[in-house]
Parts: sequence; C-alpha cells; structure tokens
Amino acid sequence: MQSKRIFPEGFYWGSATSSFQTEGGVENMDWAKGAKEGRVPMIGRACDFYNRYESDFDIVKELGHNCHRISIEWARVEPEEGKFDENEIQHYLKVLAAMRERRIKPFITIWHFSLPLWFSESGGFERSDSPEIFARFCGYVAKKLGNDCRHFSTINEPTVLASNGWVRGTWPPFKEVPGMGWALSNVPGHQENKKDKGWRNLFLYLRVLKNLARAHNAAYDAIKKNAFGAEVSIVHHIILFHANWNPINKFKAWFMNWFWTHRFIKQVYKKCDSIGVNYYLHKKFGGTETYAKTDMNWDVYPEGLCGALKMVGRYGKPLWVAEAGVADADDDIRGDYIKGLVSCMYTAIEQGVDLRGYMYWSLLDNYELAHGYDKRFGLVEIDYDTLERKIRPSAYVYKQIIENNGLVE
Ligand code: BGC
Repeated sequence: MQSKRIFPEGFYWGSATSSFQTEGGVENMDWAKGAKEGRVPMIGRACDFYNRYESDFDIVKELGHNCHRISIEWARVEPEEGKFDENEIQHYLKVLAAMRERRIKPFITIWHFSLPLWFSESGGFERSDSPEIFARFCGYVAKKLGNDCRHFSTINEPTVLASNGWVRGTWPPFKEVPGMGWALSNVPGHQENKKDKGWRNLFLYLRVLKNLARAHNAAYDAIKKNAFGAEVSIVHHIILFHANWNPINKFKAWFMNWFWTHRFIKQVYKKCDSIGVNYYLHKKFGGTETYAKTDMNWDVYPEGLCGALKMVGRYGKPLWVAEAGVADADDDIRGDYIKGLVSCMYTAIEQGVDLRGYMYWSLLDNYELAHGYDKRFGLVEIDYDTLERKIRPSAYVYKQIIENNGLVE
C-alpha cells in the first residue's frame, strides 16, 4: 500500500550556499590570507557563483526549489572599517532580483565564516567592541536589502567557528589549545607547525563565544531597526549526543548537549524569531552500531535529525533546517540520505516541532573549508576546470519530494 507523508502547506524546500565557498575572487579576507600562508587550501575562483548566479538560479528553479539560502561576503561590502561599497550592495540586490524573477524566496545569512582582513587582523571577535562592529554591518545590510528579503540570519554556526578557530586551530585565526588539534589531522595539507598554540587560547575561545552571542543579540536589534518586518534568526550547528542504556553514558550525552548547544542557545534565543538548525553529526556514547560513512568519514545517520530538532524545538521558536546534506562524490547515498532526513522532519513535525523548511547543503559542490575542493556536497556537480554544472541524479529524488510536498512511497 502507498504511504504518504505530506508536509504542511507553504513548507520551504530549497538548498543553501555561502558566499566565500562559491563566489570566488575575494582576496581581502581571512580565509584567503590563510590559504596564501599554506594553512588552508586555496580558494581561487571557486564556482564563480558571483558571475553565474543567474544560470545557477535557473537550475534551482528547474529542480523545483521554492527558496534558497545565500550569504553576504562581509569583505566585499565593508572592505574598510566603516566604509561600505555601494557597488557590492548593488550586486547582492541583483542576486535577490534574480531570485524574485524565478519565484525563489531568499534567506540571507549575513555572515557565514569569512571575515574582512581589517577586522580579523585587529582581533576579530576577540575584540570587546566586536558586537557593535558586527551589528553596524548587519544594520547596513538590512537597510539596503530589507525591502527585497524578509529572512535574515545573523551568524552561521558560532560554536563551530569558535572551536575550529580557537581550540582545534584548523580555521582562521588558527589558534589551538595544546593537544586539541587532533581532530582534523586527516585533512590534506593540515600543518601542525603553522598554528598558534597555547593555553591562553582557551580563554580566548570562551571570550569569542561570549562576544558571538552578544554580537547576535546586538545584530537582532540593528536588523529590526533597519528592516521593517524582518524575521531574524541564528543558525546553529547541532551535534546530536545520545547514549545507550548506561546512566553514565546518558550523563555524558546530557553534558555534551548542554556544552555544545544549550549553553549558547540560552544566550540568544530570546532575540530569535526562528532558529536555523544545521545537522551533520552525532555521537552515541556506549554505542556499538557501525555505520556506512560519507566522503567526510562521517556516519550516515540522517535519523539523528529528529532528535536534533526536538532538542532545539524546546525553545518554542519556529525552526527550519538551514543545512543538512552529505559529501558523496559518487552520488550513491545522497538520494536515500535526503529521504531519511525528510522522514525525520516529518516525524518531528508529528511530534509537535514547529518546522517550517529545509535547505539541502549544498546546491553546488564548493570550497569545503579546510578540505578544499575534494569533498562534494552538491546536488549539482562542478567541473572545476571548465566550471561546467551537471545535475546529479539525487537532485531529482529531492525534486520529486518537493513536487509531492513530502514522501509518497
Ligand atoms: C557549514 C558549511 C560547510 C558544511 C559541510 C557546515 O557546518 O555551515 O559551510 O560546508 O558544514 O562541512
């Protein structure tokens, strides 16, 4: 018999990209500098999304998506402290117009990881005035783009940024708490000797996290002031910690969920109209199960999304999945993975979570951070020599789900 799991009317179905991972050609920011110093892979022209967004949105349309999440490149818009580049804002207005023409609802993340050099070199989010600096940028963006976009997220994954930048030392500004850099030792080109190691980084990490929470809260007010009717969110990366029957393992899972998720969300949720959830990882304490692996060597465990949504659902805000997806160059697990995610979202809604949408990460293969271009998350494959786009079969699996507004099997 046919089973139907149909989503609420108006559910957002789409995909996500971020500026520096796809646009190409940005040199005045911290990741590009880190690449020149040999600390992370070179970025170069990436997918050239900066020039090809029109044809990429044609693909988005062809795949049936009704929304798309982009980010704004801070270094383009505010290349010098307090000086804004009107031409770059015009560029993003054109990007929004291209979406509007194709009836694709825009979701803007104002800042997705990369920082202008003037800010990163002067201390970035270690600076005590960083919340005000960030809020000024967000206010400007909201003022300029607020007529053309309703959904603004302030920060993408603050807890990931702080731990990779100040504990593991694998992302700018490459600061490591001694002994904590192990986790990315399998990254090609990962260079132990190019990090700034020291116990002081632990204090800086805590300071940065605090400033990021303050920055979100200040940005919320700035966006609301400058864009009437804007809906403001934060995008949080959830690692689902869970456990077997053992009470000690249950305690570990509880502690880690507090440490990774609640500790931060508690500081910001009051200034969130909704919360974006990114899900990729889980850790089961005492678990003996074995899992197939993605190309990132992460467990294939889409089922964890349900627990992740319930964990943040308790803050009583509407949620949307701002990212979830899989690195799978051969495209042999992506289709089922998406179905698995969608099935979990349906269960979460049935169990009372106010979930409004899903954006697959990512529309295109792109610059996968410390891994460079090897890991392929795209619904659309990129040939980096010719920049040719090729839609992967799994993109049509997702398209079918969107056409049905759910799973019909
Ligand atoms: C980030 C993306 C990244 C993806 C896959 C997320 O944590 O927001 O920028 O590409 O994970 O690693």
